[in-house]
Amino acid sequence: MNQATFIRQLPKVELHLHIEGTLEPEMMFQLAQRNQIDLPFASPQEVKAAYEFTNLQSFLDIYYQGANVLIEEQDFYDLTWAYLLKCQQDNVIHTEIFFDPQTHTARGIHFDTVIAGIDRAMKDGLEQLGITSRIIMCFLRHLDEESAFEVLEMALPHKDKIIGVGLDSSELGHPPEKFERVFSKARDEGFITVAHAGEEGPVSNIYNSLELLNVSRIDHGVRCADDEQLVALLAESKMPLTVCPLSNTKLKVFDEMRDHNIVELLRRGLCVTINSDDPAYFGGYMTDNFRAVAESHALSREELALFTCNAIDASFISEAEKCVLREKLDDFVATA
Ligand code: HPA
Ligand code: ZN
Repeated sequence: MNQATFIRQLPKVELHLHIEGTLEPEMMFQLAQRNQIDLPFASPQEVKAAYEFTNLQSFLDIYYQGANVLIEEQDFYDLTWAYLLKCQQDNVIHTEIFFDPQTHTARGIHFDTVIAGIDRAMKDGLEQLGITSRIIMCFLRHLDEESAFEVLEMALPHKDKIIGVGLDSSELGHPPEKFERVFSKARDEGFITVAHAGEEGPVSNIYNSLELLNVSRIDHGVRCADDEQLVALLAESKMPLTVCPLSNTKLKVFDEMRDHNIVELLRRGLCVTINSDDPAYFGGYMTDNFRAVAESHALSREELALFTCNAIDASFISEAEKCVLREKLDDFVATA
């Protein structure tokens, strides 16, 4: 089989995916109509034309606006189900999904409505598509600590559905230390922790996420390359980085895919993974991200499979579940 087919059929595991970032313009229009919400765009084509980003903030402004069409539990179900169908197409066998409760609670949508819709779709995803999944709740770092504590309180009755907490939104000006106490409480409550760090922000955000937030993965983390000691530390500790290639070029973290450091980091022994972040906004789901990297960097099949192998190691599932995923990967590689 050629490399394009190998990449499409390769079993994949996604660890960095914002469910609000899977809202395709067509669904945005459908939901706007269903919920009688005015959109500042005349058509899905006009929405797509507005997706020209200069940095993270220019994306976030439009991304939070898009989420306004999500109102009812069924909306969150439909959104999540559409994403899981994309997973099926791309041979994603396991996914760990972020959601941003504050984006919704700030508009008067109940936390329980959001989680119920996402969770119901994930249960159907397991039953009907055989895709396993987990949910991670993110705090919006541009909001204050008090708001994060409030949303953590809302999450407590849903501990059975939420495996961990994360930190996203505007990295510059909102360092991890702002959330040290909330993360400490979240860990006491049994949540695993992750944080976006070193996407646009400095290496100090990666160090502080590790030291103060006790994270089990760094989301993005590509700026680690600015600090040799940090690269060595990440390699030695096998700290996973959930890298998002198309996101990074769309948000100008790297000018071109050939400038991206993901392959260099992989070859230096870091536990790097490929992920789609906000695929409806950045022009591609998992297969597209793998292909974009492979088209600009000469990658062997072993290296392509290593991205999945790393993601299995870095996932938040039991050893028994990891074994099942490793078997699927090994079976594919043996016959491809
Ligand atoms: N960075 C920060 N916040 C986000 C992102 C991201 O890549 N995607 C959605 N929210
Ligand atoms: Zn992200």
